[in-house]
Amino acid sequence: MNAVIVAQGLTKEYPSGEGCDRVLREVGLTVRRGETCLLLGPSGSGKTTLLSILGCLLSPTAGTLAIAGDTVPFGDRAALAELRRTRIGFVFQNSRLLPFASAYDNVALAAANAGVPSAELDARIHGLLTAVKMDRHRDKRPAELSGGMRQRIALARALVHQPVLVLADEPTAALDRHTGRTVVDLLLEHSRSQAAGLIVVTHDEHLSDGFDRVIRLNEGALTEDER
Ligand SMILES: Nc1ncnc2c1ncn2[C@@H]1O[C@H](COP(=O)(O)OP(=O)(O)O)[C@@H](O)[C@H]1O
Ligand SMILES: [Mg+2]
Repeated sequence: MNAVIVAQGLTKEYPSGEGCDRVLREVGLTVRRGETCLLLGPSGSGKTTLLSILGCLLSPTAGTLAIAGDTVPFGDRAALAELRRTRIGFVFQNSRLLPFASAYDNVALAAANAGVPSAELDARIHGLLTAVKMDRHRDKRPAELSGGMRQRIALARALVHQPVLVLADEPTAALDRHTGRTVVDLLLEHSRSQAAGLIVVTHDEHLSDGFDRVIRLNEGALTEDER
């Protein structure tokens, strides 16, 4: 089986006032190695909720998920943390870099945390920082970098442990269109070369060039564009 994600019947309800809000309704999704998906949907349609479940950050109310062939044990916090550390790379809208660490150290800390052997660490970080065109700025702190540069460091951090699954939640929302495109192209390139599955969440229809699949979330259900 070459799938990085097999999700079946994913349902998420949040408790509200008298009853509950059903945000995801029996969502099914299969993503293969090296496959790149753009996930579109209006604000409030459940994109972040779905990505958080796929990224083992949030438990579904019902349904099952397998990452790279292993069923995710949503009740087991330690196992979830291990899956996130070793198999999943996340990119958030606002980078979420450590403010007092250099660009290099932001990536190095993530690598060490994921158990990248220290003998490989420096070469791997150098390779990634070069790929995202940030090696020159390796000693700068986040506050000394532009939003696009911070996002490229966040990419290096998300990719340094060679995750089989890369998830990005509106990674371009704080960037101008050209810079956003550059960030998305780096994600596409890397996912293909590492045979990782990629899901990028966005509002921006214009980003769909270069993706294998375009998936839409509406009222808690997924549909896919014919391409
Ligand atoms: N922790 C939460 N508790 C209660 N409701 C939530 C929570 N997170 C999200 N929601 C609700 O779920 C719906 C989908 O939210 P979200 O997944 O953030 O959508 P999107 O990322 O597409 O904007 C929204 O109505 C939101 O208010
Ligand atoms: Mg969101």
